[in-house]
Amino acid sequence: MNLGPACDRRRKNAAMTVLVTGAGGFIGRWLLDVLRRRNVRIVACFHHRSQAPVSAAGVEYARGDITDRAWVAKVLDRYRPDRIVHLAARSLVGPSWENPRDTCRVNVLGTVNLLEELRNIGFGGRLLLACSSAEYAAPDPPRPLLESDRLWPASIYGMSKLLADQMAQIYGSRYGLDILRVRPFFLIGPGKRGDVASDFAQGIVSIERGLSRRLLVGNLHPVRDFLDVRDGVEGLVTCLDRGVSGQVYNICSGRGVPVQELLGEFIAQARSPVEVVGDPSRVRSHDEPYKVGDPSRIRSLGWSPHYTLEQSVAAILEYWRAQPVDQLREQG
Ligand SMILES: NC(=O)c1ccc[n+]([C@@H]2O[C@H](COP(=O)([O-])OP(=O)(O)OC[C@H]3O[C@@H](n4cnc5c(N)ncnc54)[C@H](OP(=O)(O)O)[C@@H]3O)[C@@H](O)[C@H]2O)c1
Repeated sequence: MNLGPACDRRRKNAAMTVLVTGAGGFIGRWLLDVLRRRNVRIVACFHHRSQAPVSAAGVEYARGDITDRAWVAKVLDRYRPDRIVHLAARSLVGPSWENPRDTCRVNVLGTVNLLEELRNIGFGGRLLLACSSAEYAAPDPPRPLLESDRLWPASIYGMSKLLADQMAQIYGSRYGLDILRVRPFFLIGPGKRGDVASDFAQGIVSIERGLSRRLLVGNLHPVRDFLDVRDGVEGLVTCLDRGVSGQVYNICSGRGVPVQELLGEFIAQARSPVEVVGDPSRVRSHDEPYKVGDPSRIRSLGWSPHYTLEQSVAAILEYWRAQPVDQLREQG
């Protein structure tokens, strides 16, 4: 498959079906946006707890649970996809400590369900699996992580993604399935909830609306590889399109940004003065001090990021400014 823009390729791809699991989530919605601009048939799978993605021409919707093997088999049989992007997951580190069973059920068992069904039907297409930077061991001394670096997660979430990652590797090599894995770092952008960027944005918008006076913050020292989700989904499509079967790709910028610097960018774009106050309840006990990826491998496919941190922050603030009051996280 080629998802590129050339018209002759579009004609060639007219019958291509791309199935996306977790299509109602943060990355899924942005990915649908990119796919809709290509001439492919899209099957967007979403879960009952999320809002269905906005209806659009050229998109078919399938609602169900990835841990339900019968549903997975039914969807594959009905839509017969050529390409699958598997995003469905319990995707946050914090809740994985509260609910390890659910995290493993969805992230590991859900992935195995999909792999098993692909094996059963002798799937001849390509599967792209979203793994995570949370799988890597902390590098000592700190340096950008290569795909070949040691994997040793520091969270239940990271471990669940590592198990899914390795399961996919085994299924790919043992059963000859065309599977690629990607390890996104910290994708930020409009629509994301529960990460540091959306926390800052909600706090600032609350202040702009006069709903709170102070911005409560946790640990500002960790260094992270933030990447705009719009660049992230272009990275996914690049791997789907041109990635090498069996390979794993970091999806990252390669630039380490202290959370303090991210905060500075948000404050610089705030429309009201912001008083920052440390809040011990927001400091995570298991924060990794440094997590930055090396993007050389995905860059070798011709991908590179386009959005600056300033542009990402502007888009996130605009998103939260458009939200109703009850959507904003409570501040001090
Ligand atoms: N965002 C990042 O920076 C990042 C970084 C590294 C890796 N990733 C990985 O990328 C993928 C997408 O991340 P995201 O940020 O878009 O996460 P997200 O917003 O939480 O989306 C995940 C989607 O999976 C769905 N889902 C959960 N349980 C399901 C189930 N049992 N059956 C079917 N669908 C289910 C969720 O639906 P409900 O809400 O309805 O349950 C949600 O729509 C995940 O695999 C995540 O681990 C993300």
